[in-house]
Amino acid sequence: MKFTASHILSIAQFERADIEYIFQVADQMRPYAHRQKLTRVLDGAILGNLFFEPSTRTRISFGSAFNLLGGEVRETTGLSNSALAKGESLKDTARVLSGYSDVIAMRHPDNGSVSEFASASRVPVVNGGDGSNEHPTQALLDLYTIQSELTSQKRSIDRLRIAMIGDLRFGRTVHSLCHLLCLFDKVKVVLISPSELQMPESIVEMMKEAGHQVVVSDQLESNISDVDIVYSTRIQEERFATQQEADLYRGRFRLNQQIYTKYCQPNTVIMHPLPRDSRLSANELDVDLDANPNLAIFRQADNGVVVRMALFALILDVVDQVDAHARPVNWYTPGR
Ligand code: NCD
Repeated sequence: MKFTASHILSIAQFERADIEYIFQVADQMRPYAHRQKLTRVLDGAILGNLFFEPSTRTRISFGSAFNLLGGEVRETTGLSNSALAKGESLKDTARVLSGYSDVIAMRHPDNGSVSEFASASRVPVVNGGDGSNEHPTQALLDLYTIQSELTSQKRSIDRLRIAMIGDLRFGRTVHSLCHLLCLFDKVKVVLISPSELQMPESIVEMMKEAGHQVVVSDQLESNISDVDIVYSTRIQEERFATQQEADLYRGRFRLNQQIYTKYCQPNTVIMHPLPRDSRLSANELDVDLDANPNLAIFRQADNGVVVRMALFALILDVVDQVDAHARPVNWYTPGR
């Protein structure tokens, strides 16, 4: 695809070669993300960071990625703090804010909302999550993480075996990740959820059409023994009609070190888009896994910065200039 000035709205817009190119550019961003070098290639550029739903990682890593390339960030958080609460349409908001920004990242609770916004925007728009629909940049950082974790085990994404666990109905990260895996060969996907929270049938069909092996189950222990990755997710309580309904499913699939040792292979990689629900009633990934070297969740979150730097550099067409603008950093950074 042509990246320059493009919106990033859905995984469906990518081909396999695009993914490989994004990951190559993400690798190029690592010294900047790790503060070994500094670049000001986006000096003067402005990111409009519009988060109309709660976010920690996605919002901060979009902003950090832009800052690390030398650009500045203007931010809106929460629907109630914006003129959308006064009845302004998404398209009017887009017409206005695209006059103030060079690129926009946006999260919104409604499916399709970011595409609608993008249709009226004069600058490129990146989808930071639209309802339960898609979260394309998360899928990219997830796959980048899978690739880097597997490479160290001398394996590749083709023939990957992955278990996705939890709220597969409303979880937009797993929806986008399934789309992305369809660009690769012979993947085995084990979908573990309460029957009411199963992966949408259209996505299951799409994976089968891609030639993937799909297993659907509501049992955890018996289904995590022959996978490379366990990808756990949070019950998306904000998408349920009532809190009581969400509570029915909370805590159904808990992974701790004892279960991991008994059922997983010794090098199975543990992932989660985060936030993990650490309340005792949920406890998706027990803190006793924190000492497990295969717990990749914080490496995964770190990878959000390099992948989003790569996307900004591609969209704003500065990939070739990043290194030309490089200089050493002035300050001390631990681990550098
Ligand atoms: C996810 C999201 O917002 O969809 N978080 C994230 O972006 N890392 C997952 C979640 O909220 O459970």
